[in-house]
Amino acid sequence: MKKNTKILVANWKMNPETPELAYDIFGAIKRKVLNSKRAEIVICPPYLYLENFAEKTFGLRRFSIGAQDVFWETSGHAFTGQISAPMVRASGAKYVILGHSERRQYGETDSMINKKIKSAFKAGLIPILCVGEQERDPQINYLEFLKNQIKSALSGVKRSMLANLIVAYEPIWAISTFHKGAMRPEELHETIIFIRKAVADLYNREIAMALCVIYGGSVDEADAEALLKGGEANGLLVGRSSLNPATFGALIKIADSFK
Ligand code: PGA
Repeated sequence: MKKNTKILVANWKMNPETPELAYDIFGAIKRKVLNSKRAEIVICPPYLYLENFAEKTFGLRRFSIGAQDVFWETSGHAFTGQISAPMVRASGAKYVILGHSERRQYGETDSMINKKIKSAFKAGLIPILCVGEQERDPQINYLEFLKNQIKSALSGVKRSMLANLIVAYEPIWAISTFHKGAMRPEELHETIIFIRKAVADLYNREIAMALCVIYGGSVDEADAEALLKGGEANGLLVGRSSLNPATFGALIKIADSFK
């Protein structure tokens, strides 16, 4: 990805409720992407749509599909309900969101996320590693918490892989709290510097500076530009606003305006 290119990742979560709606939203977003010039767009729908959507993005350089999770084993009999990284890659998807706080809430641990990251890399997927604190405590312990999340997720990951990693900073207190809005750009900027410092300590400065770090949590068209500019995020991970083609279209325009 070019240095100033912004990436927008749409996390559809368990939405929408019907296939008709899913195809409608996808079609409307695709039209907006075709009118865009620079931004990279990744749609992460429920698994059911990966193959169909990936076919519809075939040959489009800046438009890709991603999954919302993978299991760490490649195949097997004892894994009812799981989907592996090679399966997701074979569907045509290129990205995978890993370690989302909503999955951590259902028992996903740092060591599970670490195994998933490694299997994603092995299958040729680009992992979007989500990290983020529950709250900002006055003692500032959350920084240590963030650092540990990054360290555990990347344990044993070779430095050559880092060019293909995206870190999504998603403070849990800012996810889906649209009434309060996203976090402030200055706070985001500080946190992104902290994340790069944590990665520099694990690898080196060059890798840390080149790392793609994006922000997620209640992003909408009112704050996207400030988060990208003042926050110095390389992109945005967008939940609710990504299901509304008009809003997501506005976000694409904003991301596209960065040269
Ligand atoms: P939100 O979700 O934009 O609806 O807050 C972001 C996310 O959870 O990835």
